[in-house]
Amino acid sequence: MCGITGYVGGRANSVRLTLDSLKRLEYRGYDSAGVAVVKPGEAQVTVLKKKGKLGNLEAALDGLDRSGGTVIAHTRWATHGRPNDVNAHPHSDCSGRIALIHNGIIENYIGLKQTLTEAGHIFKSDTDTEVLAHLIESHLNSAGSLEGAVRAALSEVTGAYAICVVSTEEPDTIYAAKTASPLIIGLGEGENFLASDIPAVMGYTRNVLVLEDGDFAKITPEGVTLTTLSGHPLNREVFHVTWDVSTAQKGGYPHFMIKEIYDQPQAIRDTLRGRITETHGVAFPELTLPTSKLVDFNRIVIVACGTAYNAGLVGKNFYEHLLRRPVEVQVASEFRYNDPIVDAQTLAIIISQSGETADTLAALREAKIKGATTLAVVNVVGSSIAREADEVLYTYAGPEICVASTKAYVTQLIGLYLLGLYIAQEENKLGPGVVAAYVEQLQNLPEQVAEILTDTSAVQDAAKQLASSSSFFFLGRGFDYAAAQEGALKLKEVSYIHAEAYAAGELKHGPLALVEPGVTVVCLATQSALYDKIQSSVKEVKARDGTALGIVKIGDEGLNENFVDMVLRVPSTHDTFMPVLAIIPMQLLAYYIASELGREIDQPRNLAKSVTVE
Ligand code: AGP
Repeated sequence: MCGITGYVGGRANSVRLTLDSLKRLEYRGYDSAGVAVVKPGEAQVTVLKKKGKLGNLEAALDGLDRSGGTVIAHTRWATHGRPNDVNAHPHSDCSGRIALIHNGIIENYIGLKQTLTEAGHIFKSDTDTEVLAHLIESHLNSAGSLEGAVRAALSEVTGAYAICVVSTEEPDTIYAAKTASPLIIGLGEGENFLASDIPAVMGYTRNVLVLEDGDFAKITPEGVTLTTLSGHPLNREVFHVTWDVSTAQKGGYPHFMIKEIYDQPQAIRDTLRGRITETHGVAFPELTLPTSKLVDFNRIVIVACGTAYNAGLVGKNFYEHLLRRPVEVQVASEFRYNDPIVDAQTLAIIISQSGETADTLAALREAKIKGATTLAVVNVVGSSIAREADEVLYTYAGPEICVASTKAYVTQLIGLYLLGLYIAQEENKLGPGVVAAYVEQLQNLPEQVAEILTDTSAVQDAAKQLASSSSFFFLGRGFDYAAAQEGALKLKEVSYIHAEAYAAGELKHGPLALVEPGVTVVCLATQSALYDKIQSSVKEVKARDGTALGIVKIGDEGLNENFVDMVLRVPSTHDTFMPVLAIIPMQLLAYYIASELGREIDQPRNLAKSVTVE
C-alpha cells in the first residue's frame, strides 16, 4: 500500500536520498507524500507534506534537501481520510517532537482517539495513524524513554502496521516495528536504510533484513538492534538481493498479476479487519445510514462494469439467498438507458476498484437523481465514486497495478458478503447464530486461499496442455455460474483466447454446437446440490471430443479424473463463499496460459486499468 523510506547516517543529501528511494516505489500508486527530518539540537522535527505526486513535495523543499539529518519519508495510499496535505504522513504529536509514518490500518483508533482527546491531545488529521503519535507522546513520561513509549503505544493498538518513528529525543535513531505490513532494513557502512519494499534501497545496498510480524527495531548509523515488541532479542538472517529492480518491484514475481494473485490472502484479511466483532457479528463503523433505513429497502440494485459487475453477480445470489429480497445487477453502461426502476425505496450498490470508471460514475449519478440511496464498494479512497456516493464501504486490496483485476475482485466479494451479513444481522430475521456461522467461515478464507496458492503445479500442468485451445467455455450453476463469468473474463483479457461463460444448463441450447476437439470446457462443480447436473454437462462435452477441466472441492469425487480430462481441487467453505476459492485456480489458469503464449500479461492489448470515458 503506502511507501515507506528512512535513513540514518551522515549523508548531507539524506532527504533527497529518501525521496529518490520513494520513487522506486511509485509504481504502487499513491495520493500524497511527506518527509520528516530531525537533527541534533533542534527543538522540533521538521515535517513537510503535500497532496499529489512526489514532485509537489520536491518543489516545496526549499533547501531542506541539503540539510542532512535523520529522515523518514512516505507516500500515502489513503485508507482513513481523504487524500490531502493534512492527512498525508508523517504525523506528529502535540509537541512536534515526535513524527512517524505508517503503512497499515489501526483498527481501534476511534476509541484511542477519544481517550487521547479527553486527555487534551489535539488532532489535526482524519487518519488512524495520528493516534500513534499522540499515544507515544502520552507514554513518554511513564515509560522513561522514547523506546519504552513506542513499545507501550504499540502494545495498545490492534490492526496492521509498519511504522517508523523519529524524535528530537534521539535524533540519530529510527524506531521501527511491523505487524502484517511489510518493512525491510537495508544495511550500509556507517548508515542504514528503511523501506517498505526492497527496490527502494537497491541503489545503496543489497544486504537487507526482512522484518517479520512482531519485530521491533532500533536503527542507528552504527547498527540495528532487533527485538520482539516485549524486548526479547532476535536474530534475523541478512538477505542478499540478487534481483534486478524490475523483479524486485514485483516482489520477486515475474509479473504484477501473479504478485497480486498471491497478495489475496492479505487483501482479504485487510478487508475483514475491524469489521468482525468478538461475537462473530459484523460491524461497519463507517456507515452513517440508520439501521431502520438499511433494513427497509424493498429493492437492491447493483451496478458496475467488468470484474466489478461479476462480483455483483455473486452479491445478487448471496443477498437473495440470505435476505430473500429481489436484487438486480446491471451493467453500468446500460443502466441509464434501461429506464431503471429505482426510487427512494431502493438501495443502489455501486462497485468499482478505481472509483473513476465513467459509466459507473454516470450510473451512480442517475441512481441518485431517481432518489435511491447509493452505497459504493470502492478500493481507491477519495475517488470520484467514493466522494459522490451517500455511503462508502472500502475494500482494502491496496493498489492493483495489473490491468486484469484479481485482488480487487476477491475483496469486492468480501465487502459484499459483509454488507449482506450486516443487513441480515440488523434485520434480525435469521435464527440465532446464523450470521456468526457465516462469519466464522469468512474468517477462514485467507488461509484457504493461501492453501490453494502453496501448490500451483496442477494448474501449471493444465495451462501447458490447454494453451493451444481454440476456445474456452466456463460452465457453472448458481454461485458457480457467477464465478464462471469472472473466470472467462480473466482468461480472455490476458491470453486473448476466446472465452465465454454459460449457465451449465444452457450448453445444450446453443453453444454445444461449437464444442469440438480443441475446445476446452471448464466445469465448476463446487455447489453441493448441483453436482449431478454439472456431470451431465461434462458428458455432453466429452461426447463431442471437447476437453473438460473440472474445478471441484477437495474430497468430492463426483467429477474426478474418470469423468474429466483434468481436475483442479480447492478447499471447502459455505457454498455461497465458494466463488472466493473457485476463482483462484481460474486466475492462475489465465495467468499461466498467457505466460505459455508469451502475452503482455500486466498490460493486455487494447485495455486500460481505469476506463474514464463512456
Ligand atoms: C477487469 O480485469 C478489468 N480490468 C475491467 O473489467 C474492470 O473491472 C472494469 O473496467 C471496472 O473497473 P473499476 O472496478 O475500476 O470500475
